[in-house]
Amino acid sequence: MSTDNVTPWKVEGFVDYQKLIQKFGCEPIDGKLIKRFEQVTQTKAHCWLRRGIFFSNKDLKEVLDDYEQGKQVYLYTGRGPSSEAMHLGHLIPFMFTKFMQDALDAILVIQMSDDEKYYFKGNIEGKPVEYYNRLTYENAKDIIACGFNPAKTFIFSNFKTLGGELYQNTVRVLNSITGNRIKATYGLDLNCTNGQLVWPSFQCSPAYSNSFPDILHPTGEYSDELPDGTKTYNGPHIRCLVPMAIDQDPYFRMARDFAERFKGEGYLKPATIHTKFLLSLDGFSSKMSSSGEAPILFLTDNVKLIRKKIMKHAYSGGKPTIEQHRQLGGNLALDVSYQYLLYFCEDDVKMKEIAHKYRSGEMLSGEIKAIMADYVTKIVEEHQKHREKVTPEVLRHFFNRNRKFDNSRKEKEPIELETDEVYNTYGINFDRSFGAIPSLEAIQYESHNGW
Ligand code: TRP
Repeated sequence: MSTDNVTPWKVEGFVDYQKLIQKFGCEPIDGKLIKRFEQVTQTKAHCWLRRGIFFSNKDLKEVLDDYEQGKQVYLYTGRGPSSEAMHLGHLIPFMFTKFMQDALDAILVIQMSDDEKYYFKGNIEGKPVEYYNRLTYENAKDIIACGFNPAKTFIFSNFKTLGGELYQNTVRVLNSITGNRIKATYGLDLNCTNGQLVWPSFQCSPAYSNSFPDILHPTGEYSDELPDGTKTYNGPHIRCLVPMAIDQDPYFRMARDFAERFKGEGYLKPATIHTKFLLSLDGFSSKMSSSGEAPILFLTDNVKLIRKKIMKHAYSGGKPTIEQHRQLGGNLALDVSYQYLLYFCEDDVKMKEIAHKYRSGEMLSGEIKAIMADYVTKIVEEHQKHREKVTPEVLRHFFNRNRKFDNSRKEKEPIELETDEVYNTYGINFDRSFGAIPSLEAIQYESHNGW
């Protein structure tokens, strides 16, 4: 397995996540860090943290230190609106960001990079600027449906928002990066359009808090009024944490390098936390992707269709015949239904039961598929309910900047921590098979058959 198959614009075949961590210079998330997270935020870790799905980070510790000292931090994530309908895989970073917003009680800014999609798809698809801008608002409904705090969240279209301090930071980043650096970091070259070549700086600049002085620094040190009535923020920055899929990391390496170079002017390196991709339904790629072959679980599909797609296409780690399956059991690592359950069934007790029954052959492929379909359809159903509640007024609220954002922090009820032995089993050490070990016979059969 190589790591060259992962760039912000393509993810092909299988991804070696351990190698990516090394290549991108990230830190794996271990039990110690998860303990610190729970201690500082008084929030139980999301099962995606415990189970090593959000598996890598840079400087999450610094964010927690800031939070512990009562300093403000903020969150930044984004979406390139390239299709009418988002799919299940797209939800993962947003659902997790919602969890982090609550845990850190933090303001969140969400960049809708309609410009990015125009640069990278406009010529191929023959679509105008307006098309991608319209998709911004369509996709924003799905994002809002994840439950972000309306008093703490600002969603913006790049087309409509770039200007002022955000643009000034973009210009600073643009002017600090050579073409050679862009080529080396993103694999872009002189056959690319000008838009494509400058794009990366536009994804970096929201990671600096002085890009949103009105939202993140409503009080503080400002310059005298300029002739047009605006003022410049001169006070200290607050730290940014960016939840995202690992393929977006190159942007934030660049954003961190910029901050390092300009730390004398107060810039702070954004921290990052990375998720793995949701496997494609047919199990043939590490990422559910609209450009692949496998059927996609769209958030707009009715739940009957979702169930049908799962029952028909979810790749099975079961054995070819029932007799063989009863004897040898299913391969958990290969079984797409099991892998999806690791995402969508939060209950460890339930997961343990499923793992043991399926691995031992007591549970059949059709049964595990049906269980997975139950969990996934429930999530999609809930999502659709929430999306329906996103009225034009709600949408407008999230895009409106002329309002007071709530930067207060609520006291939390203290939670009970686990023992260090328990934390040691979290994150990178998490046993994704819940102790369900294949029989020797099953191991022999599976290795013999190239599994
Ligand atoms: N480039 C991302 C995409 O194609 C969208 C995006 C913009 C983003 N800003 C971001 C993603 C910040 C993560 C963090 O979907």
